[in-house]
Amino acid sequence: MDFNAPAGTNLFDTAKVVGKATPRVDGPLKVTGTAPYAYERHDVTEGQLVGYPVLATIAEGRITGMAVEAAKAAPGVVDVITALDVGEMPKPSELNAAPLFGGARIAHYHQAIGVVVADSFEQARAAAALVQVDYDAEEGNYDLETVWARVREDRSDPVSRVGDFETAFKAAAVQLDAEYRTPPHSHAMMEPPATIARWEDGKLHIWTSNQMIEWARAALAKTFGLDEEDVVATSPYIGGGFGAKLMLRADAILAAQAARRLGRPVKVAMPRPMVMNNTSNRAATIQRIRIGAGTDGRITAIAHEAISYTQPGGSGENATAQTQSFYAGENRLIVNHLAEMQLPEANAMRAPGEASGLMALEIAMDEMAEKLGMDPVEFRAVNDTQVDPEDPSKPYSDRHFVECLREGAAAFGWDSRNTSPGGMRDGQWLIGHGMAGAYRGGPAMASGARLRLQPSGRLIVETAMTDIGTGSYTILAQTAAECLGLEVADVEVRLGDSRFPASAGSGGQWGAASSTAGVYAAAVTLRAEIAQRLGVNQPDALTFEGGQVVSGDNTTALSAVAAEGEIVAEDSISFGDFRSEHVVSTFAAHFVELAVHAGTGEIRLRRMLAACDAGRILNPTTARSQVIGGMVMGVGAAMMEDLAIDTGRGFFPAHDLAGYEVPVHMDIPAQEVIFLDTADAVSTPLKAKGVGELGLCGVAAAIANAVYNATGVRVRSYPMTLDKYISDLPEV
Ligand code: MOS
Repeated sequence: MDFNAPAGTNLFDTAKVVGKATPRVDGPLKVTGTAPYAYERHDVTEGQLVGYPVLATIAEGRITGMAVEAAKAAPGVVDVITALDVGEMPKPSELNAAPLFGGARIAHYHQAIGVVVADSFEQARAAAALVQVDYDAEEGNYDLETVWARVREDRSDPVSRVGDFETAFKAAAVQLDAEYRTPPHSHAMMEPPATIARWEDGKLHIWTSNQMIEWARAALAKTFGLDEEDVVATSPYIGGGFGAKLMLRADAILAAQAARRLGRPVKVAMPRPMVMNNTSNRAATIQRIRIGAGTDGRITAIAHEAISYTQPGGSGENATAQTQSFYAGENRLIVNHLAEMQLPEANAMRAPGEASGLMALEIAMDEMAEKLGMDPVEFRAVNDTQVDPEDPSKPYSDRHFVECLREGAAAFGWDSRNTSPGGMRDGQWLIGHGMAGAYRGGPAMASGARLRLQPSGRLIVETAMTDIGTGSYTILAQTAAECLGLEVADVEVRLGDSRFPASAGSGGQWGAASSTAGVYAAAVTLRAEIAQRLGVNQPDALTFEGGQVVSGDNTTALSAVAAEGEIVAEDSISFGDFRSEHVVSTFAAHFVELAVHAGTGEIRLRRMLAACDAGRILNPTTARSQVIGGMVMGVGAAMMEDLAIDTGRGFFPAHDLAGYEVPVHMDIPAQEVIFLDTADAVSTPLKAKGVGELGLCGVAAAIANAVYNATGVRVRSYPMTLDKYISDLPEV
């Protein structure tokens, strides 16, 4: 099915199942520990050996030798495979910035350089410690500040320029010029990367933990010189990804290399201490924002200039993305520097770009509102736009940002806050309120599905879509049920296998919108097949309800239609060019109340509220979970997450979740999520958009702005740890 014009009125506008709060269909499996994750697939193939990775301990240089005899002689060891043995391997994908394995060249600290394979995990781990590696180390550059100092005034290659920023900024009645800093972040997903690999007759099957089945299959085929048909990737349950599992990682390459060499299945997990440096991270950013406005609060000039780091060939963290289109303003300048550095691979992490960019932009907006003497909600509303400000001929498909601001403010009780910083107390606590706007793109990707109507009347959905903890199983069951007049309980959803029709996968918050549209496309095909069997020319003349299909005066049970044997229908959705004639995005307003201890500076969140405009909400329960999860991640970004760099040696010293702190339940207050009831006809036939990354966007700035409101101290560097503000707190 080609989606090449805005959706008209359709069955989703009168939905009975889609859009209704529905508990996760995979919930019982999760809470009983019976949803199998990659490393636990003991049942799928016999005789599994265990591989333990050996990682580089320099950041840049070459391996000159690897002594593996002692490891090979250790108890239980079957073999040791080194990067020197396998030699240079092709990069799995253009999307992988750093090499994963193979050859003498070291591109970053903790690059995989070997795998010790043994009968047990303990034997492999003990033997891995016996591998001796000699290096020819080189000096690398690991300090973003030095590069920034050099390129800060370089505007020779802007991302975009509209009007004359410099002149307009100079002429503006009110001006802001400030710098903001965000540190590197680690995805820190609960389930580390893990893979079981098996070769049979030259064909490779991996059971792994991956957000993008099709990308994984293509990357393995490329790496091992196989036809894609000879690779199977299976990943039905995923313990979080946040972008870290978009691309193939070293666990899959090591397992597949070892399994091929040994002719036996091999499983490899990246132990937690290896995750921070071996996998990928969100790059640190330094951002300069300049905003000029008239006394009426209208922005006349806006410039966002940023820098982040990357391995050669990577794209870093584009913190300027949202500033190109979020707020109005005639004169605009966007510059995004990319510093090639030899740090572990910077790559996509939840809301890549916007998450970091809004951490800065939305403090800047707060600072401007204060300079203007305007309410921060009002200032944002005044600068709303319904067209792309870089290209006013391009409209937003559906934008209700102002309603997010208004409804959020009303529900939060924004008007009753204290507007003079440091002026509200509750005993020893300084009370603050802050808000921020949020913006995240609403992409869609081609996505397919296969539906199998059973003689029992039940329906099976098969698609290579993934569920990374997001609720895909549930919303796809809802979509299929809606289209065939069934209940969710009548539908079984099977995901995460490359033998199923190729799907959008989970990334860039495109998964829900795209994969439900793919199931809809397959359902339309199935309904046509059912119509044909009933001798009805017009499938649209059929009504599907209560497990039956109604045609005029005739009612037939779906089980009767399929009585002769299952009916299989397959199709996919593809998105036409018309979509890119619009800006398709999602919006939110975040509100935070917190307390800062007047003596110790401790920050305690008291409540958080998000008002979201993300098209049709397919399932308010799972969508809310996505948003509050994003908000928790925003608390981490605001207050604790810091994958600090050792700028001398070029690595991240944090090797665990004690060194890399993320929020725990005690850190999180009451969270409220409001969804505007919107429908974006340009986005998909279901008029839905993503919401999973939107929940993170803007949160950290709302917290920073609340800290300012509480204390009068403006912190422009994340995370807002005590050292950055305690000496500036008001006198007790
Ligand atoms: Mo997302 S960073 O594309 O998983």
